[in-house]
Amino acid sequence: MKSELDDSKLMSLTQVFGMRPSRLKLIADAVRIAGLSDTHTLLEVGCGSGVAAVFLSQEYGCNVVGIDSSERMIALAARQAEAEKLAYNVKFLVADAANLPFPDSIFDTIICEAVFSTIVDKERAAKEFRRVLRSGGKLLILDFVLRKEIKKELQSQVSFLPCLARTRHLEGYIRLFEQVGFQNSYIEDYPQEVKRTGWWIAYTSGSWVKLFANPSAQSDCGSKEILDVDSLIETCQRFSKEAELGYALIALTKP
Ligand SMILES: C[S@@+](CC[C@H](N)C(=O)[O-])C[C@H]1O[C@@H](n2cnc3c(N)ncnc32)[C@H](O)[C@@H]1O
Repeated sequence: MKSELDDSKLMSLTQVFGMRPSRLKLIADAVRIAGLSDTHTLLEVGCGSGVAAVFLSQEYGCNVVGIDSSERMIALAARQAEAEKLAYNVKFLVADAANLPFPDSIFDTIICEAVFSTIVDKERAAKEFRRVLRSGGKLLILDFVLRKEIKKELQSQVSFLPCLARTRHLEGYIRLFEQVGFQNSYIEDYPQEVKRTGWWIAYTSGSWVKLFANPSAQSDCGSKEILDVDSLIETCQRFSKEAELGYALIALTKP
């Protein structure tokens, strides 16, 4: 962990994000609902560099499959599983959440942490989650959620920041999952998580200014060259306040 942090100026926004200290605690809280054990097979959608997948396999002995649309993230994740000698229990592959390369009903649990907000075709992804889960299986979505409507103009100013631009309302998410056939939604709020994430990213990168000056981080923002970081940060703060940006666990069951 330390060596990766020391190297943080070379890390992408996704990697820095994936190493936030509160993350594994949130994930451990969420998987309590699924009662993971060594007989479980879990799919992590948008696994990034594989930190959570490796943690889940080590902590609960379950088999884990991690998918991510980024080849770079999957290469990092596979390297980590190999280093931890987990290559048999944890598999990683490049795949799209909206087109999962698996047969029907093969996973006991799906976890998707800070990913659903970034997915473009949310309805197709939700249908795919339902298809690959077994009956009685749990879907655990941990993510940013909006609580208030925001003005179109403000939305367009953050359009290149996937986590903000594509985040939807909590109620909208629940409606979507129920429409595709999930039931028994359970919600838990983590009100401090947005601030904590902001502090963590600024701390590991030296500052937000340094982070956005880094080409790896810019590539996570559609390679947009960010000319005025101060004004971008101000816009993000305004967005967060006006939309009442929060972080929540949405747990659902496939009947
Ligand atoms: C904000 S990062 C979070 C990664 C990881 N869950 C974490 O917290 O470290 C979002 C991840 O979702 C992946 N992603 C975005 N859209 C995806 C899709 N349609 N299918 C699979 N992965 C996707 C990105 O490549 C990225 O690694």
